[in-house]
Amino acid sequence: MEFSERILRVQPSQTLVITAKASEMRRKGIDIISFGAGEPDFDTPDFVKEAAIKALKEGKTRYTPAAGIPELREGVAKRLKEKNNIEYSPSEVVITPGAKMGLYEVFTILLNPGDEVIVPAPYWVSYTEQIKMCDGTPVIVQTEEKDGFVITADKIKEAITPKTKALVLNTPSNPTGAVIPKEELEKIAKLCVENNILIVSDECYEEFCYDGEHTSIASLSPEVREITFTVNAFSKSYSMTGWRLGWVAAPEKYIKKILIVQSQTISNPTSFAQYGALAALEDKGKFPAMMKEEFRKRRDYVVEQFLSIPGITCSVPRGAFYVFPNISAYIKGDIKNDIDFTTYLLEEAKVAVVPGSAFGKEGYIRLSYATSMDNIKEGMDRIKKALQKL
Ligand SMILES: Cc1ncc(COP(=O)(O)O)c(C=O)c1O
Repeated sequence: MEFSERILRVQPSQTLVITAKASEMRRKGIDIISFGAGEPDFDTPDFVKEAAIKALKEGKTRYTPAAGIPELREGVAKRLKEKNNIEYSPSEVVITPGAKMGLYEVFTILLNPGDEVIVPAPYWVSYTEQIKMCDGTPVIVQTEEKDGFVITADKIKEAITPKTKALVLNTPSNPTGAVIPKEELEKIAKLCVENNILIVSDECYEEFCYDGEHTSIASLSPEVREITFTVNAFSKSYSMTGWRLGWVAAPEKYIKKILIVQSQTISNPTSFAQYGALAALEDKGKFPAMMKEEFRKRRDYVVEQFLSIPGITCSVPRGAFYVFPNISAYIKGDIKNDIDFTTYLLEEAKVAVVPGSAFGKEGYIRLSYATSMDNIKEGMDRIKKALQKL
């Protein structure tokens, strides 16, 4: 066999496939409105760029420690204390090349063949594939539109088996924008502590909570902190997706193992980029707060528009920058599933959206509203016109 069984088990990222298809059509001169992007449409702030440029000019272009520069580990630990109310020492923080790699490293150090990881659906596309790449088995637990796609401790409990090793939580969620309320997080934390289940808490969208504050599950008790990996990144909050910088915070015994992976694979996160991230920390959330207010207006507009389309229902996302409307009423005739529906939108309306099935939920689509209000208005008009023809 030419390839490893591991790689043959895994699918390419569907969200990147759609974005690539839309870019390809655009290159051919077709006027596409894309709602596919999983990144803010704002530029990285100048103060971050300038800090990285200064670092480059000062010759900070060599290998750094595998865990990242000490100032950044300290800065992240301080932020976790001030913003998230969790006590981590800098030795319990590792700087990673984006949250994605951080998550992959967590699964790498934890999973043995047959180990199960509970993943609430709709889920971000990479969890299941990363778990499979690390020889684990994703166990999908569905959430429902009527519950705002919020996962509950009761549903998780039903999925626990003797092989359950970990649970993935993503609040606010990509793709639904669901935010798990604090009371439910408390129940989930208790369940995991009682059943010895590790928690992988992906908090990449924490800055974008539209109703109330984000709660980090590790902040709920010392016991839950001991079993939690708090994963986050500069990517979404500081519009630094291309910089590839994130972090994992966890008890030191786990961080030590992650460091083995980093030292034998990436060596270190990019040196000068880390100085840009230091500047982002100093901003203390002002930049993401500005983006959030803009995203809120767009969210309200998109939801209102979808709700005005006959047959479509749309749960109001409480965080992140995605909407996840239910389009199942349009699955009829030649449109056999949500993938056909997105193909129809791309060909008929020249609008790119991602099918819900890519996130483990059929009959829905995901739109990112991290694109200008002009694009959103034009895109929604086109969707409405195309659906009138069906
Ligand atoms: C839920 C979630 N986690 C992690 C990531 C990856 O973040 P990063 O770009 O920092 O690797 C994304 C990016 O789309 C995401 O949506």
